[in-house]
Parts: sequence; structure tokens; C-alpha cells
Amino acid sequence: MYDMKKILPGLIIFAGLMTFPIWYNGGDAGTLPKPEKPSNAKECVRPTEYMRTSHMQLLNEFRDTVVRESERGAIKEAGGVTYDDKSLMLGCMKCHVSKKKFCDECHTYAAVKPYCWDCHIQPKETN
Ligand code: HEC
Ligand code: HEC
Ligand code: HEC
Repeated sequence: MYDMKKILPGLIIFAGLMTFPIWYNGGDAGTLPKPEKPSNAKECVRPTEYMRTSHMQLLNEFRDTVVRESERGAIKEAGGVTYDDKSLMLGCMKCHVSKKKFCDECHTYAAVKPYCWDCHIQPKETN
């Protein structure tokens, strides 16, 4: 049988954590996230505005073309970095070198936790 004495406190803690960003800021949206800009390139793989709102769809699209259609995409160059057009690790993270200072900066704010890093290796944080 499930032990409600154990489950209930768990649920309460979970609810607390999930709503933490809301009550921590006193219901205020708080300071906006400041994802770190890449130092090596000036432009993203798509227009910034599109990336801001639609990078999740783009990542899905890239994954599907690579995994289902074995279509890896071109090797490109920008600001002295070569990167793989359709790759998370060899693409996005070549320019956005810190998951913590880039991806997480927004995701913590938006309270989303993409599960990608269960499998994909995240870059080593340098500081
Ligand atoms: C060639 C380097 C490069 C690659 C590869 C790259 N980006 Fe970017 N990305 C940038 C730059 C530079 C900016 C900032 C552009 C600006 O200031 O307008 C940016 C902006 C963004 C933004 C908006 C950030 C903000 O401040 O609003 C998101 C989200 C993003 N990139 C996600 C990704 C994802 C996901 C990938 C992989 C599919 C990727 N990027 C691949 C260089 C890159
Ligand atoms: C400018 C802010 C910003 C940056 C930078 C950013 N994201 Fe996001 N990301 C978001 C927001 C906001 C959502 C939630 C969108 C929604 O729920 O509609 C999201 C959602 C996602 C999702 C879907 C997760 C889900 O559970 O629905 C993935 C995958 C993702 N981001 C990957 C990345 C990766 C990888 C990076 C770093 C290369 C990154 N993002 C950088 C703002 C950002
Ligand atoms: C269960 C493990 C697993 C999870 C979770 C996962 N992936 Fe993947 N992903 C893979 C494997 C395996 C490949 C194929 C690798 C290859 O062929 O190079 C792949 C390939 C990809 C590719 C294209 C190849 C490349 O070099 O990046 C993208 C883009 C990608 N995944 C994005 C994502 C995103 C975004 C998430 C989170 C929303 C995610 N994946 C979650 C296992 C996973």
C-alpha cells in the first residue's frame, strides 16, 4: 500500500518547489533573465526573435532530420568557430558554450527543465 504519511509531505514540498519562483518574487515577475551572448559569433542560426520563441521546435526538427532521415546538415563557420548546423552539442553549444549561463538562465526563470541532458552531454562549465 502507498504510505500517505510519506506521500503527502512529498507532494507539499513538490508544490512548494514548483511555485517557488512565484512566491519568492512576491508575485512579481522579478528581474528578467540575461542569457549570456556568445563572444565568438554575432548571429544565431535563425533570426534572434524566432530563436527566442521557437528554439524548441527547431531543435525537434533538427533531431528528427538527423535521427529519422540521417540527414546531418552542413558544417558551417561563423566568427572562427566551425559548427554542425543541426546538432545540439556540436551546433548550439559551440557558440552557446555554457548551459548554465545561457539555457538555464531562461529555463530557471520560465520554470522549464528540458530532459535533453539526460542523454546529451552538457558542456563542462569553465567557471
Ligand atoms: C554560430 C553561433 C551560434 C550557433 C551555432 C547557435 N547560436 Fe543561438 N545565438 C547566437 C548569437 C550570436 C545570438 C545573439 C544574437 C543577437 O544578439 O541578436 C544567439 C541567440 C540565441 C537565442 C536568443 C537569446 C536571447 O538573448 O534572447 C536563443 C534562444 C538561441 N540563440 C538558441 C540557440 C539554439 C537552440 C541553437 C542550436 C540549434 C543555437 N542557438 C545555435 C549564436 C549561435
Ligand atoms: C531567451 C530565453 C531562453 C534561452 C536562452 C533558452 N531557452 Fe529553451 N526555453 C525557453 C522558454 C521560455 C521555454 C518554455 C517555452 C514554452 O513552454 O512554451 C523553453 C523551452 C525549451 C525546450 C522545451 C522544453 C519543454 O519542456 O517544453 C527545450 C528543448 C529548450 N528550451 C532547449 C534549449 C536549449 C538547449 C537552450 C540552450 C542552447 C535553450 N533552450 C535556451 C527560453 C529560453
Ligand atoms: C533518451 C536519450 C535522449 C534524450 C532524452 C534526448 N536525446 Fe537527442 N538524441 C539522442 C540520440 C541517441 C541521438 C542520435 C545521436 C547521433 O546520431 O549523433 C540524438 C540526436 C539529437 C539531435 C541531432 C544530433 C545532434 O548531434 O545533436 C538533436 C538536435 C537532439 N537530439 C536534440 C535533443 C533535444 C532538444 C532533447 C530534449 C528535448 C533531446 N535531444 C533529448 C538521444 C536523446
